[in-house]
Amino acid sequence: MKKKVLSYSTDEIEVSWDKERCIHAEECVHGLPNVFDPKKKPWIQPEHTSTDDLIEVIERCPTGALHYELMKSDKAEQPPEQNVITIEKDGPIYIHGEVVIRDMDENIVLQDTRVAMCRCGKSKNKPLCDNSHIEAGFKADTTYNVERLRTEPVNGKGGELSIKLFDNAPFLVQGNYDLVGEETGTETCSKKMSFCRCGGSQTKPFCDGTHKKIGFVSE
Ligand code: SF4
Ligand code: FES
Repeated sequence: MKKKVLSYSTDEIEVSWDKERCIHAEECVHGLPNVFDPKKKPWIQPEHTSTDDLIEVIERCPTGALHYELMKSDKAEQPPEQNVITIEKDGPIYIHGEVVIRDMDENIVLQDTRVAMCRCGKSKNKPLCDNSHIEAGFKADTTYNVERLRTEPVNGKGGELSIKLFDNAPFLVQGNYDLVGEETGTETCSKKMSFCRCGGSQTKPFCDGTHKKIGFVSE
């Protein structure tokens, strides 16, 4: 996973931005246009607003490219009460929650509150999205088969949402979560599910084994 983190500070807050994880031109630029302005240098100027407003907008960055650290307080971003997995049309899978991503040997690859997982199979920054779906012309709607999530009872709310990466194969989600797809709606569940990350499944966002047929490779 690539990382290129730049920092921008006032005496109250340090804003960090990971260039490799930034794919989305909506939340920050539209939320605080006088602070986040790609036409200016530096493009983030945190001194132009209050710390509270900055925190509010940073926590809406869906990829986790933006984070902050407070200089005069121990207060830090908290995961939401319930983990939320959102299917983006023709794009990644956004996860907001207590996310812990591990490899097949159980090593922690990333721990975060916000991530964008590649689901077109083309990212050069797997397992995260790097916007390659646009160039690849990836097409996928936001529907999902609700019945597949209803085969196990809901165990509660929130807590760790474990994401396990299988080599050349899907990622496995384990924990309590809401699955959100604009077209199908929201389903609250605790079902262990494999999500497609090769882009080829006929039962998206879930894996149907197509990764083997198409020889998907995920380093
Ligand atoms: S909200 Fe996050 S991902 Fe979107 S443009 Fe801003 S920093 Fe990049
Ligand atoms: S990862 Fe795409 S079908 Fe399994």
